[in-house]
Amino acid sequence: MKKKIIFSGIQPTGILTIGNYIGALSQWKKLQKKYFCIYCIADLHALTNYHKKSILNNNILNTLSLFLASGINPEKSIIFIQSHVPQHTQLCWILNCFTNFSIMKRMIQFKEKINSNKNVNMGLFNYPILMAADILLYQTYKVPVGKDQIQHIELVRDIACKFNNFYGEKIFKIPEKKMNKNFGSCIMSLLNPMKKMSKSDKNKNNIITLFDDDIIIRKKIKSAVTDSNNPPKIVFDLKNKPGISNLLIILSNITKIPIEKLEFRFKNKNYNDFKESVVYNLCLFLNKLRKKYYFYRKNEELLKNIINNGSKKAKKYAKITLKKVHNVIGLK
Ligand code: TRP
Repeated sequence: MKKKIIFSGIQPTGILTIGNYIGALSQWKKLQKKYFCIYCIADLHALTNYHKKSILNNNILNTLSLFLASGINPEKSIIFIQSHVPQHTQLCWILNCFTNFSIMKRMIQFKEKINSNKNVNMGLFNYPILMAADILLYQTYKVPVGKDQIQHIELVRDIACKFNNFYGEKIFKIPEKKMNKNFGSCIMSLLNPMKKMSKSDKNKNNIITLFDDDIIIRKKIKSAVTDSNNPPKIVFDLKNKPGISNLLIILSNITKIPIEKLEFRFKNKNYNDFKESVVYNLCLFLNKLRKKYYFYRKNEELLKNIINNGSKKAKKYAKITLKKVHNVIGLK
């Protein structure tokens, strides 16, 4: 039987955090066993924030290297760059015309951007429609995403249904969201565990980036919030002990030891012992990951090959869907 298709994307912006790794990349790696995976470096989405040429180029290669270091295998999966497959922007325009303005005005992420008073360009407004094009071009079965993207996936489903119904043909497969089961999608800020860990956080003590060295990791974990209620036990309790729970989720994901086992292991230990273990394991884990990362990042020839092959493969699929769309609309 043919494997079902998984599609996801990530923007090549900034330095990724341990949250991005646990929530996205490590999951993407696992999905390769069961599914045919297509992973996109969404450089066109990244244009919604302005970047200098060299920074964007660099971020794309960095992100790709991290994909590879995380075990995403270009022999098994398609890894490609969004702007190299022009069908994405072509389909995006068509989908724009099938998307209701009033629905777009309700997108939470966009509303947050408006409130943040930053440069609000039309790209930010249309952002979810480009996501729809990304996903629908590949007849995607499921899209692994974090909580913050759920509304966008609902929108993609609405657009696809509306298009299919209008023409009375099943042109697009209706995609489903795929949520991460073992709390991976909710790695929280170290100093404010009620808020998601975000690479754009101004206070860098809130996040562990994949490039923090051992000294910085120690400093950040040592100052992480540990919930002031007594007794100071290491237990998983998202409501009453969000800080400790967050560190347990991180430790469990990088060591592959289930949370219950960790709770047992630290039953008679104090916060300090527990944090020492988090520091030790994080340093070990990140040093290993970085070694692999630099192996790929130094080999630009290899990266370019992977990019070219990926784009070629992606185009093959994208062309088929776009042709169907053009045909049914009457754009021949
Ligand atoms: N918007 C996503 C994010 O910032 C990235 C993305 C672009 C994406 N296209 C996608 C995710 C398609 C899932 C499917 O996280």
